[in-house]
Amino acid sequence: MDMIADFDLTAHNTFGLKSTADRAVLIDDAAMLPELAKASAETGRPLKILGGGSNVVLAERLDAIVAIMRIAGRSVNQQTTDATIVTAGAGENWHDFVVWTVDQGIAGLENLAGIPGTVGAAPIQNIGAYGAQLSDFFQSLTAYDLKTGTIETFDAEACRFAYRQSAFKSEPGRYVILTVTLALPRTWKAKRDYAGLDRLPEDATARAVLDHVVALRASKLPDWRVLGNAGSFFHNPVVSAEAARAFEDAPQYPQVDGTVKLSAGWLIEQSGLKGFRLGPAGTYDRHALVLVNHGGATARDIAALATHIRDKVRIRYGVDLVQEPIVL
Ligand code: EPU
Repeated sequence: MDMIADFDLTAHNTFGLKSTADRAVLIDDAAMLPELAKASAETGRPLKILGGGSNVVLAERLDAIVAIMRIAGRSVNQQTTDATIVTAGAGENWHDFVVWTVDQGIAGLENLAGIPGTVGAAPIQNIGAYGAQLSDFFQSLTAYDLKTGTIETFDAEACRFAYRQSAFKSEPGRYVILTVTLALPRTWKAKRDYAGLDRLPEDATARAVLDHVVALRASKLPDWRVLGNAGSFFHNPVVSAEAARAFEDAPQYPQVDGTVKLSAGWLIEQSGLKGFRLGPAGTYDRHALVLVNHGGATARDIAALATHIRDKVRIRYGVDLVQEPIVL
């Protein structure tokens, strides 16, 4: 197995943070995992899986074996009376996978277009955007359990999906997701209820929704190729209906269980931090929830900025913001 020493990960994370891995390896086959687990145990270097690097804060030095996920493959497995069942390898690019389904006339994932990262990372934080989330379509996944050395299948219940949450977030480092299988309902109607999508006609095609979502994202979020970022940096806080009364002027999204989701971007902007800069890191001047790397930032710079933001928002609003990207 080809392990590379002192591997530069700067181009492998969308934040563009300066980071070097002690050892790195490209993983394109699940059969490599037992050997990698053995190498990890023998050297005392933890095994860390990196997908598209779009939701991580990478430390400047990773004393680890970093396995860059490249397991490929996309297939339409089955047509049931209700759904089309599709499977993709964990290393596939998520957006390309969405486009591939829509190009084949399989609708459903178009609202989730444009999200950076890999298919394997999608279930970890139950990616969501524009009125849809992965769990709406999830059927099952396979994952290698580094603790037992076996390949397990998880159904939706086992994944314990919630808003930006799954079982994989509570046991980081244990499972390596290998494939993800989705069920895309055959009865389809364009989902246009999220702000900005209502401009689409009622009979919009999945392709039209996809293109619109991509354009909407481009108008709001910075392109990581131009300005390093990891998308939303904090979860939108969910508070009780009673607590939400204190936020009369804020955008509010009532949830089915009676709680209310607030907008972290709004709280940060109202705290005077939209476009704020601290060293080489800052908040995006068109969307305060996105932290950006103005050039040469490290994990320390991002952490200092995140702490500053959390402190300001806590003091002003009494809300504790929870970080979204995983620290590797
Ligand atoms: N807002 C402000 N100021 C800002 C930014 C936003 O007041 O600087 C307000 C907006 O005006 C709007 C509300 O906040 O009323 C919500 O903003 P937006 O529609 O941009 O969505 P968001 O809640 O900030 C979430 C997801 C995004 C996803 C969008 C669209 C989270 C943490 N983020 O953002 O996901 O694309 O909705 O569905 O739930 C990501 O996770 O990386 C991500 C980009």
